[in-house]
Amino acid sequence: MNIALIGYGKMGKAIEEIAIQRGHQVMMRIGTANRHELNPGNLRRADVVIEFTRPDAARQNVLECLDAGIPVVCGTTGWNDGLPAAKMKAVENDTALLWASNFSVGVNIFFEVNKLLASLMNGRQEYEVSMEEIHHTQKKDSPSGTAISLAEQVIDSLDNKKHWIEGPTTNPELLPIHTQRIDPYPGTHSVKYHSAIDDIEIIHTAHNRKGFATGAVLAAEFIAGKKGIFEMKDVLGIR
Ligand SMILES: NC(=O)c1ccc[n+]([C@@H]2O[C@H](COP(=O)([O-])OP(=O)(O)OC[C@H]3O[C@@H](n4cnc5c(N)ncnc54)[C@H](OP(=O)(O)O)[C@@H]3O)[C@@H](O)[C@H]2O)c1
Repeated sequence: MNIALIGYGKMGKAIEEIAIQRGHQVMMRIGTANRHELNPGNLRRADVVIEFTRPDAARQNVLECLDAGIPVVCGTTGWNDGLPAAKMKAVENDTALLWASNFSVGVNIFFEVNKLLASLMNGRQEYEVSMEEIHHTQKKDSPSGTAISLAEQVIDSLDNKKHWIEGPTTNPELLPIHTQRIDPYPGTHSVKYHSAIDDIEIIHTAHNRKGFATGAVLAAEFIAGKKGIFEMKDVLGIR
């Protein structure tokens, strides 16, 4: 498979290593310096694009690739408001888009555990839920995309929670997400239900970027040649 990498930073380099190990060719590596090479002619030589850049760049990059009719795997977080338009563009151009706030297999299993725990906790007024996430200091968005996904899953299940908020709160309708930036944390997320009697806490700790990179390459293998909007659940066969 011919892969075009957009974003050749920490994640782009980790993805390249896994892609080559899995027998793929990385035929284009785009960063800010050679952004002009991202044009339809070059893009059409790729079977799939993998985009990991920054929140203010992802929307334009993804739309240009979808306009060229190339399937896109995108892991850039912090641009959730642009996702509906990107999904529409993928459908209009008869191609495929898979965005995930977290590509690691472990986190996608953790998402399912989070949903199940939240559904069991609905109506248990004696417990107060809160979340914590820790990442490295270069991370641009806060809270992390993974934390937002986890928070949305909790809010979908708990009738008394309406929104999430970064930092502490006394508003019972808000789910607080406590964020910390400490090097070299690749990503730690926890969801805690606290009562006067006990705590229930689930936690996922990434040890390195390999899990995200492997998941992104698995996602690229999955969507190459497909049309439509996909999630990591589709790649991993989680129902
Ligand atoms: N979904 C997941 O599983 C997952 C996991 C880890 C990280 N992430 C997210 O992935 C993104 C990238 O993370 P990272 O750690 O790789 O960041 P990084 O090391 O800062 O790398 C970002 C790369 O994007 C390039 N870039 C910036 N603007 C660009 C543009 N307009 N067009 C093309 N390339 C551009 C930068 O190029 P220059 O160096 O030339 O400026 C750099 O190579 C972040 O949003 C992060 O939160 C997601």
